[in-house]
Amino acid sequence: MKDAGQVRALLHARLRTLLFALLVSVSAVLGTVGMRPVHAQALAQALPVDVLHWWTSASERRAADQLSAALLANGVQWKDAAIPGGGGMAAVKVLKSRVLMRDPPDVAQLIGTTLTDWADGGLVLPLNTVAARQKWTQALFPTVMELVTYKGDVIAVPLGIHRINTLLYNRRLFARLGMPPPRTWEEFEVAARKLSGMGIKPLAWSDEPWQMATVFESVLLGEAGPTLYRELMVQRKSSAWLSPHVEQALTRLRWLRNTSGDVPVERTWNDAARELWNDGAAMMIMGDWAKGELMAWGASAEKDFGCVTVPGTQNMHLYSIDTFAMLVSARQREATQEKVAEVLAGAPAQLAYNRIKGSVPVRRDMDVSSLDACAIDSWSTFAAPHSARVPSLAHRMAADEATKDAVAQALWRYLTNPRMDAQETQRRLAALLRAPQADH
Ligand code: BGC
Repeated sequence: MKDAGQVRALLHARLRTLLFALLVSVSAVLGTVGMRPVHAQALAQALPVDVLHWWTSASERRAADQLSAALLANGVQWKDAAIPGGGGMAAVKVLKSRVLMRDPPDVAQLIGTTLTDWADGGLVLPLNTVAARQKWTQALFPTVMELVTYKGDVIAVPLGIHRINTLLYNRRLFARLGMPPPRTWEEFEVAARKLSGMGIKPLAWSDEPWQMATVFESVLLGEAGPTLYRELMVQRKSSAWLSPHVEQALTRLRWLRNTSGDVPVERTWNDAARELWNDGAAMMIMGDWAKGELMAWGASAEKDFGCVTVPGTQNMHLYSIDTFAMLVSARQREATQEKVAEVLAGAPAQLAYNRIKGSVPVRRDMDVSSLDACAIDSWSTFAAPHSARVPSLAHRMAADEATKDAVAQALWRYLTNPRMDAQETQRRLAALLRAPQADH
């Protein structure tokens, strides 16, 4: 039995505990409420920049949010002007019309050769001061630096390197198949036959022209090798398009497309990736942003899916490098635009963004060991002196917007019209991809 004094002491102790708990929760509430004004204050004080880009899938959105958070921490507010549409088909059109209306965004996702066209028009702010201050020449990969340098000026901030020659595979389905992922086209064919026999679609496919072009260039690299690939895409040796290697690549492309049946399937790249994730298809050939998307849905690169290079492209890196250009406008936001470049090229933003985006950092002075296995392989291949780094045509690294679209259209015609043969397509491609004074 407790006496009155003991009961009082017990009651006091309980009361103290209760009061303490109450204080903790009140301060927690006040704390979070208190955070908001701080965040709101940061936003209110931050200098705004209007950012036009085409990242609207789950992983793309999240990756962009990382950039936006890094900027806010440095006093810059990202005002989003995203234009949906894989591969930037719509974004580039909207960008052009905004510039024509004299309302350019402060920051735009302008990549590859499009950049130089815009720089020629005096529309892009040079970032030489930032690049010199941050020693980009030493810190970034030479290929990246070359891409963003034009007529002696640095014309964009590079964000990440995507690998196009990526073959993603579903680990569960390959375990059922009892086969390792294919390294050669012969192995690919064996796997495809077995998968079809099991009622599983071998390849997640889409008939969107830019996606077809993305698959084609990886297949072409495998069939042609890097030297011929460069002659075709970079030097634009028109006659090289008539090579039997190109014919083989086109025949292979048609075969790949036909593993999905005859009904046209025009869908977004992330819908195609969803099929891989849902066990509806066993493989997908796509830039490694598709890997980022699978990871954003909770898939693990160790347990659920894996990636290898497209057959024939081992030790080759078919790259597409995302870049932001700062556009010149009457608003005169140069100091803020330079800040954007400085923050986004920095190691912390690079790591946070690329981890989610599926690409890899553009810096060679970084430790990337915390990234997933596909990313480590991509970064190491890009860094290795003897590996072949070749530019993507489908993603504007090797050709301007109009040529890229015309090539994608020619491939689309070839794949959707069974009467159109590989040779005729080769002749069309030879006409589209010819250097001004090249041999014919
Ligand atoms: C871009 C990627 C993007 C992909 C799909 C590519 O051209 O480089 O950043 O995720 O298109 O939209």
